[in-house]
Amino acid sequence: MTAAPAPAALEFDQVTFGYGRLPVVREASLRIRQGEFVALVGPNGSGKTTLIRLGLGLLGATHGVVQLFGTDASSFRERWRVGYVPQRASGATSLPISVGEVVRTGLAGQLRPGRRFTRRHRERLEHVLDLMGLAAVRRRRLTELSGGQQQRALIARALVTGPRLLVLDEPTTGVDAEARAVLRESLEHLVTVEGIAVVYVSHDPEGFAGIAGRVVEVCAGRLVQVDAGAPAPSVGRP
Ligand SMILES: Nc1ncnc2c1ncn2[C@@H]1O[C@H](COP(=O)(O)OP(=O)(O)OP(=O)(O)O)[C@@H](O)[C@H]1O
Ligand SMILES: [Mg+2]
Repeated sequence: MTAAPAPAALEFDQVTFGYGRLPVVREASLRIRQGEFVALVGPNGSGKTTLIRLGLGLLGATHGVVQLFGTDASSFRERWRVGYVPQRASGATSLPISVGEVVRTGLAGQLRPGRRFTRRHRERLEHVLDLMGLAAVRRRRLTELSGGQQQRALIARALVTGPRLLVLDEPTTGVDAEARAVLRESLEHLVTVEGIAVVYVSHDPEGFAGIAGRVVEVCAGRLVQVDAGAPAPSVGRP
């Protein structure tokens, strides 16, 4: 007897969505396997952010189905399994709290009243601070950091629950070459060592060159596969 195949980390099946009457995402089908790194590219306004907000269940599809780890995105409850850094999340960076505290807020969902901050949480916190190169600045206020460090703190916050899917929307905007290199290295580790699936939205191909298994272009709300580095591409339905 063969075991059932693992569900995809994220799957869009013929998804259509519009904010008004005009569709912004059109019949999009895409299957992101666990452990896979998929880059989403496309011009401004093509629908990339809308697509990932649909993928995270933050918007509901007009037609079609979105699933996270085999569960309909609208009823998916295991939020810790998904880390998300929204595009231009800089609002959070004006908070007058330290880097360590910001990263710890990522655990809020797991630390509801009555749940303790355990050794496992602490170890994970240390791990992500190290991974994102933030250990030395953990006591500094977020407002005192550079844009690139702030961005890494927001990514560390998204990683602190130990997610199996990480969604990054334009993570390198306003980030210099050195900080981009640190981010790149961390992402490589996450994919190759921790086996996390990553969806990486970007206009900057250098950020994902050599890491992305697939590059998918969003073109006026439709998906077009640009590059199939890894096997088993499934854009446009197999
Ligand atoms: N909240 C909203 N209400 C109405 N229309 C919206 C909303 N958000 C986005 N849109 C429209 O949907 C379309 C797709 O926007 P989206 O933000 O998904 O594009 P994008 O590919 O992420 O662009 P960028 O590269 O600039 O981030 C655009 O025409 C945009 O104006
Ligand atoms: Mg966007």
